Amino acid sequence: MSITLKQVNDIESLQAEIKKWHDAGERIAFVPTMGNLHEGHLQLVDVAKQKADRCVVSIFVNPTQFGPNEDLEQYPRTQKKDCELLATRGADLVFLPSVDVIYGDEVSSDIHVPEQLNNQLCGKNRPGHFDGVASVVAKLFNAVNPDVAVFGNKDYQQVQVIRWLVSELNLKIKVIGAPIVREDDGLAMSSRNQYLTNNERQRASRLQNILQLIAGELRKGRRDYSALSEEATLALNKTGWKVDYIEILRPNLTQPTEKTRDFIILAAANLGKPRLIDNLKCTI
Ligand code: PAJ
Repeated sequence: MSITLKQVNDIESLQAEIKKWHDAGERIAFVPTMGNLHEGHLQLVDVAKQKADRCVVSIFVNPTQFGPNEDLEQYPRTQKKDCELLATRGADLVFLPSVDVIYGDEVSSDIHVPEQLNNQLCGKNRPGHFDGVASVVAKLFNAVNPDVAVFGNKDYQQVQVIRWLVSELNLKIKVIGAPIVREDDGLAMSSRNQYLTNNERQRASRLQNILQLIAGELRKGRRDYSALSEEATLALNKTGWKVDYIEILRPNLTQPTEKTRDFIILAAANLGKPRLIDNLKCTI
């Protein structure tokens, strides 16, 4: 296990390290993050280490994926602790670029995600969000030149955006969607969970429960997908949540038909300040 975590801030030093490993015939797995690491991120490191010889992690709070009223300024920055965690977890290198290193003078998104993928779910109420994600990940992929990239299925739509990006740019990167890591009560781990008050935290696993309830109804044979989503939305809203969406789709994020057997149920909702997202795959 590697306990020496290399820390680099600029692209030149990053590429020098990566080149040494590639020249030695080693495969590199990459885990992009915005830091404030928790067990959900660290399990991506575990997956990365299983899939390749070296694990590179980036920590970069990407301004272009935050909307004007979102939490860019308040986003928790805990770099020292993050690096300690990455070292004990056996990551080989952490890339900690500044905004200037990534964007230079123009902090804007160069990549535009196609409408059918962008204009639904989280993309709908967060205009520009996925363009920002795709743009920064393209820049990071270009800097790191990984063989494998690991993303969490918690951000399911994000994983689909990255798959589109890799195919659009003809990159030879294997994209892995890793399982959602949850707290004991089922709440998906997230950096934003710390914004929950104690009382909200106790009610937060309700989001996961409602997805389970919908899966149960699908298994019982219900096919009135929009009515089902609406019922779930009303039920959550009644208990103090503010639902953005609850959707029952196919795993490729298209509408299911009567014959569909593989589903993904996705939800986003505010509980107090934080906006929480979750999803559940379900085969009937
Ligand atoms: P961030 O929110 O820091 O998440 C980094 C990675 O950790 C993402 O792939 C996310 O899906 C994964 N992750 C977070 N919580 C998880 C959980 N509970 N279980 C499994 N995986 C989890 O996502 C981003 O950063 C950014 O958009 C980024 C891809 C870095 C581009 O800026």
